[in-house]
Amino acid sequence: MSIEIRNVSKQFGDFQALRDVSLDIQSGELIALLGPSGCGKTTLLRIIAGLETPDVGSIHFSGEDTTDVHVRERGVGFVFQHYALFRHMTVFDNVAFGLRMKPRKERPSEAQIKEKVMSLLKLVQLDWIADRYPSQLSGGQRQRIALARALAVEPKVLLLDEPFGALDAKVRKELRRWLRRLHDELHVTSIFVTHDQEEALEVADRVVVINQGRIEQQGTPQQVWDNPASPFVYGFLGDVNLFKGRANDGRVYLDDGMQLESPEAQHADDARAFAYVRPHDLDVERYSPGQALDAHGRPRGIVVQLARAIVVGPIARLELIPEGDTQSADNAPSDALIEAQIPAQQFHEMGLREGETLVVTPRRAKVFLDEAAGI
Ligand SMILES: Nc1ncnc2c1ncn2[C@@H]1O[C@H](COP(=O)(O)OP(=O)(O)O)[C@@H](O)[C@H]1O
Ligand SMILES: [Mg+2]
Repeated sequence: MSIEIRNVSKQFGDFQALRDVSLDIQSGELIALLGPSGCGKTTLLRIIAGLETPDVGSIHFSGEDTTDVHVRERGVGFVFQHYALFRHMTVFDNVAFGLRMKPRKERPSEAQIKEKVMSLLKLVQLDWIADRYPSQLSGGQRQRIALARALAVEPKVLLLDEPFGALDAKVRKELRRWLRRLHDELHVTSIFVTHDQEEALEVADRVVVINQGRIEQQGTPQQVWDNPASPFVYGFLGDVNLFKGRANDGRVYLDDGMQLESPEAQHADDARAFAYVRPHDLDVERYSPGQALDAHGRPRGIVVQLARAIVVGPIARLELIPEGDTQSADNAPSDALIEAQIPAQQFHEMGLREGETLVVTPRRAKVFLDEAAGI
């Protein structure tokens, strides 16, 4: 079933939780709503489920307005972050619950319920713990049971609100892959809410980035990662360094003297410019006097001091203080800290030491001009 969200706004007292949200979700799609805590993700999910009414706008299921359709009739399955399993019921009875609660006319026989529940437990690979109670399960197992329970009534739409949010990192990773495979098998239209960018990018067909109640961008994980539409999206998807400056005729003149070519600045006329550079897009060299200038006498990179190196596994993370900042008392170094990431092997081969002077040069930058500024 497809879902169309049309111009939905929602206010709680003076607080605007959703601002004119419109979104089309195709039948069978797995979509991730991604955004920081408090941006309105749960509110939007509750409105889709019918647990909350929008002030303005409407939700359509396969083209039909759901405004007057009761929660129970919407055919929505819900999985929350906090396990909502009944503690006094076995795993089997938890999954059977929705089927046993159906009105007599629609209720399957106990034999049919048994068959259905066992097939769902097989699907989530937990048929061997049907007789256990929730307290005897791990967190990851409980969430898989919660999902089986949501699927038991054959929902047309599955809403997952940070379902793995309370689990530790390793289990989360396993479960997101598992969820993806399950979705490929079932093709239930699903909305997956998360504040974890890695989780959203890995699991979803399409990612919708939300900030302060508004959709900032939507697209495939690749589109959103390669072409962030705003500084917010760029910053939210990964670690960034921000360099400020001014843009003119295709060039960006950064405050520290360095210049960049930038297609975004093509028509710029002395606009304020913000260049964002991912830590792994910074080249790192050892500094030698004079070497930091290009053929035109312009700085090629930024002269920095290596304040700290964190080498764990294959990556070396370098905390760098721009040269001009090391002595100035009014400019706290931590504010201006630049982070670079290089392969640990390169770090060892170069024999870098903390306290050394280095030069960093952006290999790639994403430039936003004045109007899009400010995260
Ligand atoms: N029933 C409510 N009454 C008042 N404020 C609410 C209510 N529900 C949510 N909010 C507020 O709306 C904002 C968005 O909440 P929510 O949708 O839960 O965000 P998210 O799920 O993205 O963390 C939050 O600031 C929250 O405090
Ligand atoms: Mg929430």
